[in-house]
Amino acid sequence: MLLTDKVALVTGGGRGIGEASAKRLAEYGAKVIIADMNLDAANSVASDINIHDGEACALEFNVAEFDTISGKIAEAKSMFGHIDILVNVAGVTGSTPIEEITLAGWDRMMDIDLKSMFFVTQAVFCIMKDQNYGKLVHMSSLAALRGGRSSDASYACAKAGILNLSKCFALRGAPYHITSNAVCPGNILTPMGRALSWSKVDPKTYIPMGRYGTAEDVANAVLFYASDLSSYVTGDYMNVNGGLYM
Ligand SMILES: NC(=O)c1ccc[n+]([C@@H]2O[C@H](COP(=O)([O-])OP(=O)(O)OC[C@H]3O[C@@H](n4cnc5c(N)ncnc54)[C@H](O)[C@@H]3O)[C@@H](O)[C@H]2O)c1
Repeated sequence: MLLTDKVALVTGGGRGIGEASAKRLAEYGAKVIIADMNLDAANSVASDINIHDGEACALEFNVAEFDTISGKIAEAKSMFGHIDILVNVAGVTGSTPIEEITLAGWDRMMDIDLKSMFFVTQAVFCIMKDQNYGKLVHMSSLAALRGGRSSDASYACAKAGILNLSKCFALRGAPYHITSNAVCPGNILTPMGRALSWSKVDPKTYIPMGRYGTAEDVANAVLFYASDLSSYVTGDYMNVNGGLYM
């Protein structure tokens, strides 16, 4: 199978896009570490994978607790002995009007959606360099490309930062056979998506393909970047949005 003998760490793997991505990677043969601040959710996804003949472990990991990152990544590595694939999905959104975003709100968004992703990736990158191999996949957003609409400006700015974070790791990782790419989902019906204003609007009226995206639609793009199907693709991103941005 495409990912036999590969180990994948998926942050935010407890539900939504992270859950679907973890399950897709497991389906293609990867051993998967489901890392989430919600341990019950991570355990439940890991059990589902194990019941269906995959191999998965759960890890309680709040990516925004910066002091714990290096210890948690070491713990993740010890679970299956290596980490070949990192899928950074953990994140939150916001919908504060631009006039009302506070310093504290801005900092919280940057901490969870951007700063944590940099330092988690940095810790895994060091392992991948030693292995001379790695696949980094970062969850950005359509908001990174066209500004926040349902989601707010702090979210859109953090997600735009992720596109450049990805390119920086792509440049530094290229000599070590480490690729780094991002995925930009559009309007995806997950627990996060259901809380945003677009989910109250008929998709036939504004999405060219006439439907919202599913977490599985995004997981398919993750699978491409996580596997050697994308071995000559780095520093790039993929839109998964039913034609909402073209
Ligand atoms: N749903 C969409 O329409 C959409 C669109 C574009 C981008 N995205 C991005 O995709 C990612 C996943 O979105 P989703 O819709 O599946 O969200 P979700 O809220 O349904 O799931 C997010 C998961 O991340 C976990 N999480 C949140 N903060 C965490 C932290 N600090 N540490 C560890 N785990 C944490 C949650 O416990 C949850 O399991 C996010 O980064 C989001 O910004 C989503």
